[in-house]
Amino acid sequence: SHIKSGTVKWSSPSNIALVKYWGKKDNQIPENPSISFTLSNCKTITEVTYTKKEGDDFSFDVYFEGEKNEAFKPKIQTFFERIESYIPFLRDYHFKIETSNTFPHSSGIASSASGMSALALCLMSIEEKLKNDVIQSCHPEPVEGDSEESQNYFNKKASFLARLGSGSACRSIEGELVVWGENESTESSDLFGIKFNGEVHSNFKNYQDTILLVDKGEKQVSSTVGHKLMFGHPFAKERFAQAHKNLANLKEVFASGDLKAFVKIVESEALTLHAMMMTSIPYFILMKPNTLEIINKIWKFREETNSNICFTLDAGANVHVLYPSEEKETVLDFIKKELAAYCQNEHYICDHTGLGANQI
Ligand code: PMV
Repeated sequence: SHIKSGTVKWSSPSNIALVKYWGKKDNQIPENPSISFTLSNCKTITEVTYTKKEGDDFSFDVYFEGEKNEAFKPKIQTFFERIESYIPFLRDYHFKIETSNTFPHSSGIASSASGMSALALCLMSIEEKLKNDVIQSCHPEPVEGDSEESQNYFNKKASFLARLGSGSACRSIEGELVVWGENESTESSDLFGIKFNGEVHSNFKNYQDTILLVDKGEKQVSSTVGHKLMFGHPFAKERFAQAHKNLANLKEVFASGDLKAFVKIVESEALTLHAMMMTSIPYFILMKPNTLEIINKIWKFREETNSNICFTLDAGANVHVLYPSEEKETVLDFIKKELAAYCQNEHYICDHTGLGANQI
């Protein structure tokens, strides 16, 4: 391509898994299928400025929230090494990567899903610009492509690349439900996430996720270490089989709108994820006392009010409180009055399901 420089910009959301990805094979291939709600407010916004360069090395700078950041560089270096055979122009340009999050940095909210998906999308946009430039230099007349098909290719490859940055990042490109990992009950792939194509009852429209920040510190166990704990784990085989079953059951639940069944699957998945960490060698307890206080309060509230509120957890102490949008007012009132006290500085973030990433 003749293009010497340019800029692309994407915003990409975080996601919250309902059936959890925990355990992977080589090349970021998941041991079990997972499904997640794409979020809306918790996003990373990334701008990449690319400038043609000499030499054969990867060359990039990272700016996080306006300031030059060295801490992210090794992760991005690894990411570039993994994707270079799919992105041939990676050594031809210098990349200035400017990124920021809509959620506070030290919130304990993992930014790898939103961050890696935003970066993958920027690289896809650059790929597209360079490709169009080459096509135009051969065909001065605009060439009409099948836009749905090319959109499909774009999203799939963006998700494929994002997966190589951070597994769960492949579930952040689209929304509101994304499946990743081969399984018997839905259309899916180990290589990228795709929009859940089953029927979804209106009970799940605009589902709410209020993230209670119990512990804003650095993760005690990185997900790289965490996934490795499933190697030779005594319960690994059962766990992977269970994920398949839970996904098959969730598919039915999405179609029927059975919120009571939804709650059971989602909470069991969260506790199983933590049970895997408690029963691996080395073992970890990633919940904090306040995590358990919150879980007990949620259960009590559910009993007393017949609410469909439930919780899920990632590999940390923070609690994602999930509930139908119909219950927004009552549940937010409950959170404010009874759960906020268990958060660091009473801090929580209100989010809900969304449709995925956007070009800016
Ligand atoms: O994407 P990773 O490698 O950071 O793994 C994330 C794993 C969990 O967040 C715990 C579960 C999931 O499916 O998102």
